[in-house]
Amino acid sequence: MIIKPRTRGFICLTAHPEGAAQNIKNQIEYVKSKGKIENGPKKVLVIGASTGFGIASRISAAFGSDAATIGVFFEKEASEGKTGTAGWYNSAAFEKEAHAAGLYAKSINGDAFSDEIKKQTIELIKQDLGQIDLVVYSLASPRRTHPKTGVAYASVLKPIGAPFSNKTVDFHTGVVSDITINPIESQEDIDNTIAVMGGEDWKFWMEDLKAAGVLAEGVKAVAYSYIGPELTFPIYRNGTIGQAKNDLEATVSTINDLLADLNGISYVSVNKALVTQSSSAIPVVPLYISLLYKVMKAKGIHEGCIEQMQRLFADRLYNKDGVSLDENGRIRVDDLEMRADVQAEVAELWEKATTENLEELSDIVGYREDFFNLFGFNFEGIDYEADTNEMIMVESIK
Ligand code: NAD
Ligand code: NA
Repeated sequence: MIIKPRTRGFICLTAHPEGAAQNIKNQIEYVKSKGKIENGPKKVLVIGASTGFGIASRISAAFGSDAATIGVFFEKEASEGKTGTAGWYNSAAFEKEAHAAGLYAKSINGDAFSDEIKKQTIELIKQDLGQIDLVVYSLASPRRTHPKTGVAYASVLKPIGAPFSNKTVDFHTGVVSDITINPIESQEDIDNTIAVMGGEDWKFWMEDLKAAGVLAEGVKAVAYSYIGPELTFPIYRNGTIGQAKNDLEATVSTINDLLADLNGISYVSVNKALVTQSSSAIPVVPLYISLLYKVMKAKGIHEGCIEQMQRLFADRLYNKDGVSLDENGRIRVDDLEMRADVQAEVAELWEKATTENLEELSDIVGYREDFFNLFGFNFEGIDYEADTNEMIMVESIK
């Protein structure tokens, strides 16, 4: 099949297997170029392992620390006339590279929120690894079916209290416009969003893993959060999703109690704003990211998911001098994004940005590049006119 990008709004309906493989190879090369992570993780479970921060975490563990990895994700393989999803191709490529390097890698494709997938994962750990020493929780989903009650929750991205008006960009066309997003109408919107993106499922995972005896002495667990600048507070940190992130962050102390007798510890890492399938769905944020990219690239401090996760592992989680935390007990790898000089320049550009000057003031070109890269498109050295085999079969993905 000759595979071209086919987009609908902020989603791309197609993905390119060879491009996705190139994306994975580039990330592996980056991690190798940074050298081995001293005393890094050895047996790792990544939940949400197929795209964005999750696959970058998996690559950092495997190629930075020779770790055996089990990945859990929700992706689709190719079917008649349809490509597989990007995360499927990413995972297929990752497993191929890991196996070639002599590293254990297996994956489970299914709903991580369910008890059944947790059970299958635990069986696989018991069978192949015995115990794990790191659990990475990197799920991002718009919905969750609660495993105990069967209730299906849908998250919303809304402000709380008052309508939020600001600029936004259609990153395909580059049109900058004003939007107003109405606030939640009831507490239910907050509760539903917390049910999907809050800490309960992370806690369920950790409880089940602990009960099954598959967590090693000294185990670490990490989940990802975001804060960002004041200009996105109404839609992000003070909005419904921010309430879910508060809940996730609060879950750290519950999990720490659970892990205490194993001398284990859990963290939330606050990561940088980056183009992923999840962040491109949030209004206003893509314009912020394209201005942020411009400023951070000019200062030589831009990072993608892989640079972020390699640094999280090497300089934070496995730093021999200890894990540095902010006043709220969180790991911060959004430190460069949040630097005062970076934020001041972004705020200045934010005021000025229009459809007419967007290409000049922002890195909308880099935004688009990253967006298409997520789906395996726009990589150098890949012939996108050529027929390619979309039916990638992988033994180690169940
Ligand atoms: P992503 O969309 O790239 O990755 C989501 C992952 O979750 C994928 O592997 C997907 O397969 C998996 N997934 C979704 N639903 C699932 C289900 N039901 N069962 C199993 N797997 C499922 O998202 P991302 O941006 O990498 O986000 C990961 C985490 O990082 C989230 O907590 C997000 O809030 C956080 N974060 C993102 C940003 C950003 O700018 N993108 C910044 C800071 C923190
Ligand atoms: Na992820």
